[in-house]
Amino acid sequence: DMGGHDTYMHKEISEQPDAVDRVLRGRIDERFATVRLGGLNLDAREARTIRRIKILGCGTSYHAGLIGAGLIESLARVPADAEPASEFRYRNPVVDPDTLYIAVSQSGETYDVLAAVQELKRKGARVLGVVNVVGSAIAREADGGMYVHAGPEVCVVSTKCFTNTVVAFALLALHLGRIRDLSVSDGKRIIEGLRRLPEQIQQILQAEAEIKKLADQYADAKSMMFIGRVRGYPVALEASLKLKEISYIHAEAYPASELKHGPLALIEPALPTVAIVPDDDLLEKNRAALEEIKARSGRILAVAHQEQEKADHTVVVPKNEPELDPILMGIPLQLLAYHTALSLGRDIDKPRNLAKSVTVE
Ligand code: M6R
Repeated sequence: DMGGHDTYMHKEISEQPDAVDRVLRGRIDERFATVRLGGLNLDAREARTIRRIKILGCGTSYHAGLIGAGLIESLARVPADAEPASEFRYRNPVVDPDTLYIAVSQSGETYDVLAAVQELKRKGARVLGVVNVVGSAIAREADGGMYVHAGPEVCVVSTKCFTNTVVAFALLALHLGRIRDLSVSDGKRIIEGLRRLPEQIQQILQAEAEIKKLADQYADAKSMMFIGRVRGYPVALEASLKLKEISYIHAEAYPASELKHGPLALIEPALPTVAIVPDDDLLEKNRAALEEIKARSGRILAVAHQEQEKADHTVVVPKNEPELDPILMGIPLQLLAYHTALSLGRDIDKPRNLAKSVTVE
């Protein structure tokens, strides 16, 4: 049942304010400015002994893991990174007893992720799951974890589950941070930011008509470049994947800082760039990248907190706390991919060559 929407993707994009509300519900502990996560099976003493966090997932879940690693590093100050589960599995990784491993999956059935979890457990590692489908294989195999409560996701491309997974990581990062060195006032700041998300997402969804117009203008592109820096880079990766999956337009994502090390050679009027430009300490650096693109006559669509002078178009999104801004900046780009695919007449809920869950190697 699509509930009045033409596609499941559209329905699922629209459900995000409620979905985010659900992942937050019952977990916030105002008194200690922290989060209660009963299912982790990790007490405070154990949490303090973690030296490293390694996040594993595929596709969109890997991208959510990249943002998650950034959140954990900035809020909990634990070194963290994310890696595609399949790559991890095949490179005979060093499994370290002081590392906490986190497997991320919407379906909980992705074979490469499940196999990585089983291999880690065989070697004695502690593995948590950040999973959407309750009771799925990865959820059962993990030592503990969190459900992301996005609700059923039918469309092959993931949207609401991506957003909810990132919010789940923000909760985990806050939880670990408050056990370690995150102050009460920073804890409160993040909690207030999290509480603002559903309404701000709603606000972004209201700009759909404007984003549709932009999508119609960019749909003739043969290829698109997505750029971002630090927190913005995984947003660029995810936006580029979404566009590829449903519109079949070739897209690449690069850290903005890497442009001059090669991809700048591609920039010309026929290759539009989508730039993630949050109003944070990297704003000037990002503006400089826009200038470099403009100097090569590249068209620019910016997703930013205020109108960007160098961009041809800016989608302005509401500002939250800098750590949480990537969550909001991804939303208009889901709509951009959606309306680009729609204007090209693609079968959005069933893109060619793809399956909702990849249960084979
Ligand atoms: O169910 P999972 O989160 O484990 O699936 C992982 C990927 O296969 C999935 O995210 C894929 O990249 C989607 N088509 C993304 O839209």
